Amino acid sequence: MPAEAAISGSMRPQPYRVTEVLRELDDVVTLRLAAEDRAPLPFRPGQFNMLYAFATGEIPVSISGDPSRPDELLHTVRRVGAVSSALAQLERGAVLGLRGPFGSHWPVETERGRHLLFVAGGLGLAPLRPAICRALARRADYAGITLVLGARSPREILYAWQLAGWAAAGAMKIHVCVDHAGPEWGGPVGVVTSQFPRALDGIAPDRVSAFLCGPEIMMRHGCGDLEHLGIHPERMWISMERNMKCATGLCGHCQFGADFVCRDGPVFRYRRVRRPLGIREV
Ligand SMILES: Cc1cc2nc3c(=O)[nH]c(=O)nc-3n(C[C@H](O)[C@H](O)[C@H](O)COP(=O)(O)OP(=O)(O)OC[C@H]3O[C@@H](n4cnc5c(N)ncnc54)[C@H](O)[C@@H]3O)c2cc1C
Ligand code: FES
Repeated sequence: MPAEAAISGSMRPQPYRVTEVLRELDDVVTLRLAAEDRAPLPFRPGQFNMLYAFATGEIPVSISGDPSRPDELLHTVRRVGAVSSALAQLERGAVLGLRGPFGSHWPVETERGRHLLFVAGGLGLAPLRPAICRALARRADYAGITLVLGARSPREILYAWQLAGWAAAGAMKIHVCVDHAGPEWGGPVGVVTSQFPRALDGIAPDRVSAFLCGPEIMMRHGCGDLEHLGIHPERMWISMERNMKCATGLCGHCQFGADFVCRDGPVFRYRRVRRPLGIREV
């Protein structure tokens, strides 16, 4: 992607108001944002915004809502440090700074006629949700849609209410597994990759396009296992995370191999990043 195309958002954060706070998990909230004096922000599935918590700092956060509803600008944030905690503590009516959208996108439109396999680990479902919404809105374009989701425990399953709705609608197959569970959990226990054979049963691997998002180790093993099952590395995409500052390909903070995650990613074709992904801390 040319650099000028990637620099789609301004360097100056614009004020956005929190119109709703959805408590998703103990340490995860979704912020619904609205610009008071600007048109809704169009975005592509997989892109992110830089969110600025005043007096604290700015971090990249994926846009996690439905791209057909840019008026409902959603970001799902997990509290891990100073800035994410400040964002997660915002209440309805609060104002934050936002610039974006930035980055590459999940190319679901180019994969028409194929079986889409979404693989999410934990919070990785947030950056994938816009792509799933987009695919479901054009369901007839695809041979099938499958989601494989892994969570640490049943109470850490993100968007459980939405998974129930998607399952009830019957337009996609959903496989959820957890790392640890008590007797209340009737589903599978294990790593997310353990679900691949069941999820792909009866589907020709050369018809599958896979989109993975989650911890790096999960994506590395996930892509490796899918390749082993016959899915071509050209037909797999992953979303990378790195610390960011400018988000416009200028400062070099987000370097990953020969690429900058903000400019060339965050969504990369697996074949392109297979080598640096195999090397820790590149
Ligand atoms: C393209 C992109 C999209 C992202 N989308 C989201 C999103 O949708 N929701 C969301 O909650 N976060 C998302 N992140 C991650 C988010 O930007 C980081 O969690 C944030 O920068 C942490 O900043 P902090 O000041 O809160 O914590 P810091 O003080 O920077 O870090 C606190 C602790 O958390 C660890 N940490 C920092 N970042 C991460 C991380 N990504 N994963 C695990 N541990 C981390 C640090 O190593 C440190 O130990 C995204 C990152 C990128 C690059
Ligand atoms: S954050 Fe990517 S180059 Fe500055």
